[in-house]
Amino acid sequence: MCGIVGYVGNEACEKILVNALKKLEYRGYDSAGIAVFEGDRIKTVKAKGKIDEGLAVKLGEVGELTAVSGIGHTRWATHGEPSDINSHPIGNGRVSIVHNGIIENYRKIKEYLISKGYGFESETDTETVAKLLDYNYAGNPIDAVISTVSEIEGAYALGIMFRDFKNKIFAVRKESPLIVGVGKGEMFIASDVTAILEHTKEYYLLEENEIAEISKDGVVFYDLHKNEIEKELQIADWDIAAAEKGGFKHFMLKEIFEQPDSLKKTILPRIKNGLVDFSECGLTDEKLKNYKHIYLVGCGSAMHAGTVGKYLIEGLARTPVIVDIASEFRYRSPLLTAEDLVVVISQSGETADTKAALHLANDTGCDTLAIVNVVGSTIARDAKMVMYTLAGPEISVCSTKAYMVQTAFMYLLAFKVAFVRGRIDEAECKALVSELLEIPEKVKRCTESLEQYQYVASNLMSAQSLLYIGRGLDYALSMEGSLKLKEISYIHSESYAAGELKHGTISLIEEGMPVIAVATQTELFAKMQSNIKEVKSRGAKVCMVCSEGTVIEEGVVDYPVFIPKTRDLLMPLVAVVPLQLIAYYTAVLRDCDVDHPKNLAKSVTVE
Ligand code: AGP
Ligand code: GLU
Repeated sequence: MCGIVGYVGNEACEKILVNALKKLEYRGYDSAGIAVFEGDRIKTVKAKGKIDEGLAVKLGEVGELTAVSGIGHTRWATHGEPSDINSHPIGNGRVSIVHNGIIENYRKIKEYLISKGYGFESETDTETVAKLLDYNYAGNPIDAVISTVSEIEGAYALGIMFRDFKNKIFAVRKESPLIVGVGKGEMFIASDVTAILEHTKEYYLLEENEIAEISKDGVVFYDLHKNEIEKELQIADWDIAAAEKGGFKHFMLKEIFEQPDSLKKTILPRIKNGLVDFSECGLTDEKLKNYKHIYLVGCGSAMHAGTVGKYLIEGLARTPVIVDIASEFRYRSPLLTAEDLVVVISQSGETADTKAALHLANDTGCDTLAIVNVVGSTIARDAKMVMYTLAGPEISVCSTKAYMVQTAFMYLLAFKVAFVRGRIDEAECKALVSELLEIPEKVKRCTESLEQYQYVASNLMSAQSLLYIGRGLDYALSMEGSLKLKEISYIHSESYAAGELKHGTISLIEEGMPVIAVATQTELFAKMQSNIKEVKSRGAKVCMVCSEGTVIEEGVVDYPVFIPKTRDLLMPLVAVVPLQLIAYYTAVLRDCDVDHPKNLAKSVTVE
């Protein structure tokens, strides 16, 4: 996601735009820029990097701008690495736009516009929209906007300036958020109310496919049939800090709630005709057919996603998978050959250990694929192939939506490898993909009943230590649950293979010790229930995460947590949400600094 702002009024708008953008930098900070009406032309100033590193310096060089209307953007790159040329606003002199979102059919439109004589300077999907607006513009901006949005597919919030319509801004959105702020003799647009709270608390929510024509005296809204529409004025009741988090108390909670959207944004671009499509990065079917081993390497949550990936790929594709902690991989002289694929997983794309593991793999001559959230990051650039998770910026140190989309990528990889190797046929692959596409709604449903997680948290908050246990995919997932709790609530916990408890660790169980049992795998449920009885009989207090409809024997579980059911194979994507929320509410009850846990950093760029 990114931050969009716009202003039309009587004041010089440069500082208003820049200050508004600064309040949106939490939405992305790869680059920033503004475009303003200077005389009869549109002047654009933009630069790579955070506002104070790039844009502010360039603005200092061009001198004070006197414009009283303009648009601004702080970018979270999805198409084209962070650079001056890929920064927004983007335009061609007649039209200038800022964009939040992803245009899914931009390649096809770009080819068409090139055939009509248009040139392209940037690598962004956004530039296609700017040029299409120009192509469709024949003197009426609303007509041009309507024509353009009828041709583009994907998610967008657009702030638009037409050179012929000085001191007017146009806006339109689909899926990405945009509001129209109402001041006294001045008007605003912004990705969220945070950006304009110092100027006004009155705003309109731009709804799907609504167009706004904004001048300093007010706004006119149109639908896609050019009918004017009346809208209800909203009054913001957030303070600025709360608004940055979209009204959530912490970024972590906000990012947990963003998971359905992050999943859709990450999965949908990799599905073509119901099957998995990796053509974007050159990972061909031929390559996937022939790798002798697949290594999944990362740190922390990224490595946990890889652990789920191992169960999936070996289970479905019968292809040997080695999961490694990056800091171990790089020193254990792995038996890598040029016939192997090393997949490095990283949200930040800057983790030192993961970067070093990638370089080791590159030096060995094997193929390397980076699954990264930050476009243009070092790991993304150094890998031979890269595919981006499209979760948007993850601000909280504690990984939630990044882990979710990394794990989703493990499913895509597993389905693809199994299909190209003939382990599943087209119908089976399409069925799996179809059920994967139902997961975002099931994840969303997990966040509709928060009380159950708060209740479990109230019973954990005073614990000294606890266990997370599971079998198979549930064991892989329990690693992530345990890390969440440890890193934000500072309660010691460890994940343990449930079947392994009796070989030593069960001696730790004491009266009242909490045990969180992840039990979503049907064929392993009876065994899990036995393991739970073993710990229960020694005094443990047991929370079981299982799917709706699970029949639990009387007295076995103290705190059942039921979640929407899907195919066992896909349950980790749903079951992780309760584990995230239990950790979150435990940390909140313990008054911990949830978004900035002690001793931790968002990106560990040191070894
Ligand atoms: C997870 O909650 C932590 N923030 C941490 O384990 C993180 O997953 C790990 O440091 C890897 O970071 P990366 O994905 O940016 O490489
Ligand atoms: N897809 C556009 C780009 O990569 C906009 C990304 C965003 O929402 O920041 O420039």
